[in-house]
Amino acid sequence: MKLCLIGYGNVGYGFVRVLLRHGLWLRERFGFAPKIVAVHDIRRGTVLAPEGLDLEALAAAWVENRDLSELGKSGAGLDAFAVIQECGADAVLELTPTDLRTGEPAAGHIRLALTAKKHVVTTNKGPVALFGKELLSLAKENGVQFRFEGTVMAGTPLFSLVDFALAAPVRRVRGILNGTTNFILTQMETGKSYAEALAEAQRLGYAETDPTADVEGFDALAKIVILANMVLGGDLHPSDVPCQGITKLPSSEVQRAPKEGFRWKLVVEARRTQDEVEAKVGPERLPLSDPLAQVGGVLNALSLELDPLGAVTIVGPGAGPEVTGHAVLSDLLAIHRGLR
Ligand code: HSE
Repeated sequence: MKLCLIGYGNVGYGFVRVLLRHGLWLRERFGFAPKIVAVHDIRRGTVLAPEGLDLEALAAAWVENRDLSELGKSGAGLDAFAVIQECGADAVLELTPTDLRTGEPAAGHIRLALTAKKHVVTTNKGPVALFGKELLSLAKENGVQFRFEGTVMAGTPLFSLVDFALAAPVRRVRGILNGTTNFILTQMETGKSYAEALAEAQRLGYAETDPTADVEGFDALAKIVILANMVLGGDLHPSDVPCQGITKLPSSEVQRAPKEGFRWKLVVEARRTQDEVEAKVGPERLPLSDPLAQVGGVLNALSLELDPLGAVTIVGPGAGPEVTGHAVLSDLLAIHRGLR
């Protein structure tokens, strides 16, 4: 499978590192040996390599912040659209930062790639939250796949669980889906300031390019809209969903709650009522007996309610370069194995 990366930031680099570590196993276990034939990044430049890039060199270029054009045929002057059209890839990885207002430029990249009959894997929440169903239909019309495991809970399997294993309609989901704010709240409980904890989350690559999206709840909002629409079958726009972040929570309150048997968490929920799907995002003071109160640091958790299983809860890493890169790999493997 030939791959084209659009966006080579934290997640792209995380993907390359995971591919380097598991390449041998993927080949031996599944006969899967993807090649990266093009990379375009607005800051780092563009390279085309029809024979496939050397992954070690690609990873080193990221660390050393070198222009990508040194690694193969320079694509200087080509924009993302031209690269998608000219790269000869079977699959496009759309890994640019999220813009939740417009979904662009990612949505345009994805539409072009699908129309050109290339599979698309994305970690970008904007296009899935705003146009998810349309993009799935476009993929279907063109006989290719559109997968987005990394948009929610990073590499912790969620959509593949829903698609391949749960085998029943999900009625309600409730959980913690933003790693940055969960990390900040956990750190604040131990006496760190809000600013220190946020700076650490940024350093570790958990936060969005603009961390306002995390702390004001918009990242969690995008994720619950994706679940509401793509898992519960709703038709929500982000503006339909009440949303509050953690910026108005006084740190004294976050620190006092555990002493009183509670913990503050940024909680998301979506449920199917008689004839519609509704969702919300906001901080909640949970009793320590609530399983979500035990989910600390950058971990995410989601309970999915369905008949006859009741609540199935998954807990796992929800943010970070490699764990999100891992989601990209799992989507590619699903495509390779012909899973739909
Ligand atoms: N900024 C996001 C988070 C990254 O902290 O959860 C994963 O979507």
